[in-house]
Amino acid sequence: MAEGPASGPGWGLGGRHTAGAENFRQKILQLGPENVAAIIVDPLAIASAVAMPPASDLQALRALCDEFGILLIVDEVISGFARSGRMFVCELYDVQPDFLILSKALSSGYMPIGATLVSQKVIDAFNQGDPKDNIFTHGHTYSGHPVACAVALENIRIIQEEKLADRAAQMGVYFKEALSRLKHHPSFVDARGIGLVWGLELIGSDERAAAWGGARKACLWLRKRLRDLGLVTLTLHPGTVFLLAPPLIIKQEEINVMVEILDQGLSELDAALGDHIAAGG
Ligand SMILES: Cc1ncc(COP(=O)(O)O)c(C=O)c1O
Repeated sequence: MAEGPASGPGWGLGGRHTAGAENFRQKILQLGPENVAAIIVDPLAIASAVAMPPASDLQALRALCDEFGILLIVDEVISGFARSGRMFVCELYDVQPDFLILSKALSSGYMPIGATLVSQKVIDAFNQGDPKDNIFTHGHTYSGHPVACAVALENIRIIQEEKLADRAAQMGVYFKEALSRLKHHPSFVDARGIGLVWGLELIGSDERAAAWGGARKACLWLRKRLRDLGLVTLTLHPGTVFLLAPPLIIKQEEINVMVEILDQGLSELDAALGDHIAAGG
C-alpha cells in the first residue's frame, strides 16, 4: 500500500498508514490500470491508531475506481455495525463499495462469523453466459453455518430495534466532550475518533519517557495501571494510542467513570514522568 499524507490535523502522531486518492492514482498509472483488479481500503483504521481519513478520501477512491474500471473493496470488519454512529462508515460517507467485508460486530462476537457482500455489478459478472455454467464454486467448512447466521440475524435485529447506531452517534458527542477534560495533562497528545470508537494518544516522544525506556514502555505501564483501576484498554500502533471502544449501550455515568479512571492514570503517569499538571487544569 502506498504511504500517504496522513499526518497533520486530525491524524495525531500515530496515524501514518493510509494513503490519499492521489497516491493511488499515481500507483495505478505506474502499474497500468489493466493490471489493477481492486483497491482494498479500511475506512476507519482503528488498529492503525484510529486513523480516520476524511469522507472526501473514500469518495475520491470510489471515483478513481469508476474512472479506471477497478473494484473497490471496503473492509468494515472492525468499523461496521453501528460503532461509527451509522451502520457502516460507507453509509456515513455515502460511498457504495463493490465488496463489503464484514465480521466482528456482525454477531457482536457471540459467534464466529464473517461475510462478504457484493454489488450487483459483481453478481452480473458471474451471471454472464449460459446459466447452467453460472456456479460460483467456493466453500469453507463452516460456510453459511446456520447457528452463526441465526445469531448474526438476531444481533442485527437488536442493533436496529434499539437504534444503537443513533445511540453511538449521540453518546459519541458526549464521549468527545468528556475526553477533552483530559487535555490539560502534559502527556495528552490527541483524542480522535467518531461515535463510540476513540483513540487517546499519549506522551508524544520517546525522549519524554527516556527514563522508562521509551513512550511504548510507559504506555504499557499505564495500560496495566488502568486495568487495576477498572478500565480495560488496548494500546494500538505505535504503542502510544489507547483504544477506547465501550459497549454501544454505555451510559453517560459510565463514560464519566472511564474518564475519571483515565484522569487518575494520566496524573500518575505525568507525575512519574516528572511533569506537573497546570494549576487549575
Ligand atoms: C479492518 C480489519 N480487517 C480485518 C481484520 C482481521 O479480521 P480476521 O481476524 O477476521 O481475519 C481486522 C482485525 O482487527 C480489522 O481491524
